[in-house]
Amino acid sequence: MNKRLIDHLESVDESTWLASLESIAADIHEVDRNAVEIWFRIHPLDLVRYLESSENLDEAMKGIALQGDFGLFDKIDTSHRFLFGHRYWPKTKSAVLARAENPENFRGLETEIRELANEIAKTEGVNQNLTLGIAAVGLMTLVQAGYDALAASPGKIEKPSGLMLESPDKIVAERKKDDSQGLLGFLKTIDKQFTVSFHAVKYAGKFKIINNEEIASASHKDHSKDWQSFDNRCWDGPIPIECTSASCGTCWIGVIEGAEKLCEPTRRERRQMKVFGYGQAEDQKPIIRLACQAKASGNVSIIIPPWNAVFGKKVRGNVEEVELEPVTTSAKKLRETLASMAAEND
Ligand code: FES
Repeated sequence: MNKRLIDHLESVDESTWLASLESIAADIHEVDRNAVEIWFRIHPLDLVRYLESSENLDEAMKGIALQGDFGLFDKIDTSHRFLFGHRYWPKTKSAVLARAENPENFRGLETEIRELANEIAKTEGVNQNLTLGIAAVGLMTLVQAGYDALAASPGKIEKPSGLMLESPDKIVAERKKDDSQGLLGFLKTIDKQFTVSFHAVKYAGKFKIINNEEIASASHKDHSKDWQSFDNRCWDGPIPIECTSASCGTCWIGVIEGAEKLCEPTRRERRQMKVFGYGQAEDQKPIIRLACQAKASGNVSIIIPPWNAVFGKKVRGNVEEVELEPVTTSAKKLRETLASMAAEND
């Protein structure tokens, strides 16, 4: 097998990947434009390489306070379920594997992504703007999971359901809509209500949010399911939280639609995003936010990453001092107090 493509791809650093994504972003259909960037933020190559190169993985994970389910190995077929392009995954996977064996010269990352997307689009009979995103995801999955793991994955997809059954344009239009506030809605101020649609690797759903309420605050009122049975960090609603004060990084989210309906990040949120290492701290309207800080004034669609960590200093080298409260914050103390009260009452 000729591994030249893999060798070339492995020599590409994360900033080049992100620059290539930015370069093709305008050609990705809006239905997946933000979703693809969020996928790449949830799967940061720099962090993967940092952990891969550590002599003691457990210590390295502890050193960056890594919690949850990090990595692609057990999510090769599922990590991209929130993309419209997920439906093209079987063809994407086989095309990536075929190209990995192809002896042709590497003509740059952006060209590689575009050619792969073109091939998938032709086979599927769709516009290339619908396959660019999943093509980029497929190539990064090859890099992070490796040829053998990618080849061994079943390549199965989750059949589209709900809104995802609609056309890409209809999905975008529906995501942009705000809930009707009724005939006299224009008179409402603080009692307006909107909807947050969320998608995590193992669960999805919706909850209501009051105008100008933090997303995490609205999430914590949603006890419709045992969220912790899906993700141990979800002890109080579908969004994992700890400190609720921009100190721990547990509640980070990706905003697929509605970033402009969220409050501007404060200086503290921007600084802490650098500390955590999630990126986008300088963007005017970042699509990566902290749910405990982001207040919504309209409907938003979000992605909940399956892990959290504090790796800005160690991996990105982009902050001098890590201003981080220990995970034993007020939220954790509250849980412990409630647990001990429950034990006393038994
Ligand atoms: S819950 Fe700790 S940063 Fe939001």
